[in-house]
Amino acid sequence: MKKLKIEELKPGMVFDKAVYIDMSNMLVAPMVPLKEEDINRLKKWGIEEVETAGDVVPQGKSLKPKKLSIKDEVSKLTEMLQKGNSLVEEPVVRTFNHVYKDIYRLIEDIFEKIRNGVGYGKEKIMSAMDELIIEVSKDTNTVLNEVTKEHEGTYLYTLSVNATILSIVTGISMGYGHNRLIPLATGALLHDIGMVRVPNYITEKSGSLTTDEYNRIKTHPLHGYRIVIRELDLGNEIANVVLQHHEAYDGSGYPRKLKGDDISVYARIVSICDVYAAMTKKRSYRDEHLSYSAMKNILGGSSRKFDPEIVKVFLDNMAIYPVGSMVQLNNGVMARVVSANSEFPLRPRVSVVIDEFGEKGEAEKIIDLQETKDLFITKPLSKSFMRKLSNGE
Ligand SMILES: [Fe+2]
Repeated sequence: MKKLKIEELKPGMVFDKAVYIDMSNMLVAPMVPLKEEDINRLKKWGIEEVETAGDVVPQGKSLKPKKLSIKDEVSKLTEMLQKGNSLVEEPVVRTFNHVYKDIYRLIEDIFEKIRNGVGYGKEKIMSAMDELIIEVSKDTNTVLNEVTKEHEGTYLYTLSVNATILSIVTGISMGYGHNRLIPLATGALLHDIGMVRVPNYITEKSGSLTTDEYNRIKTHPLHGYRIVIRELDLGNEIANVVLQHHEAYDGSGYPRKLKGDDISVYARIVSICDVYAAMTKKRSYRDEHLSYSAMKNILGGSSRKFDPEIVKVFLDNMAIYPVGSMVQLNNGVMARVVSANSEFPLRPRVSVVIDEFGEKGEAEKIIDLQETKDLFITKPLSKSFMRKLSNGE
């Protein structure tokens, strides 16, 4: 392993082996380009060095397909013609929407097989989680967009897929490497698997539940734990996520009323993502509004139920322009977000830091983007950039 100083890292760099923050936290997988956010994250945490056993791959070499020799090209064209393929046929681009649908089909399949007592191969689950983690790591913004879209299908399955994706994004922001993302993602995917042992008339009931019915629902974490251990053979670490996903940080959850750090950290992540996914599920064109309300709800009245540190990481990921963040406007103004706009999250109130003439104003100038329709945010600015600017660097 060799050490690399943070200053040596540049966005777009690709290494042929994984780069690690420490023994168990991976910064970036092999052959995945380093992003500016990755480097900013390290700076934010005060990390000065990372480690890798690999080398930098020269720009362009890794990502471009290998150039074929003329002989190879001729034989490829002949092969295509023999198969009757059109020479101009475009390759099918696999978008994250395809990945999303695959994971949906996977959880649907697992639920059906377990419900029918057929069992399920754990290797298939693990390799699907492997692929999902790689896909999510590539571009978390696209991924979060997919989660906020309306998806057809069974409520419980869509919820499981969304909670899994959100958990992976949160885990990545917490600096988790592959070895932690796997149990986190698998636990998130299977968190409600115990519902297969609760009668359908209860899980599908649209009206309010009787006390007896609610008590039956509350057995699903324990059923899920047993399924994960006995039928899926996935071990305690994953089973505990399933068992503890309704425990609350303040000890008010179930089934064991565990408190604080006695709850597995993966279960603490999944519980936030599960609640958020459920709150934002029923939405249409008012996406951003509802999503913002969901965030406030997690932060507000029910915040004691969740690990505050994880809530913070989660909200930082989800908020479009969080209070305190820096943005640039279309007239060149650089400003700090001072209050969010719950109805129109893209139009918060901002305080000017550098005006349109590149000057630092003496008096505080607030712009309400809701009132000033000709102005809009063009991009978020990193805090380190603003710090440098205010230090006159
Ligand atoms: Fe649940």
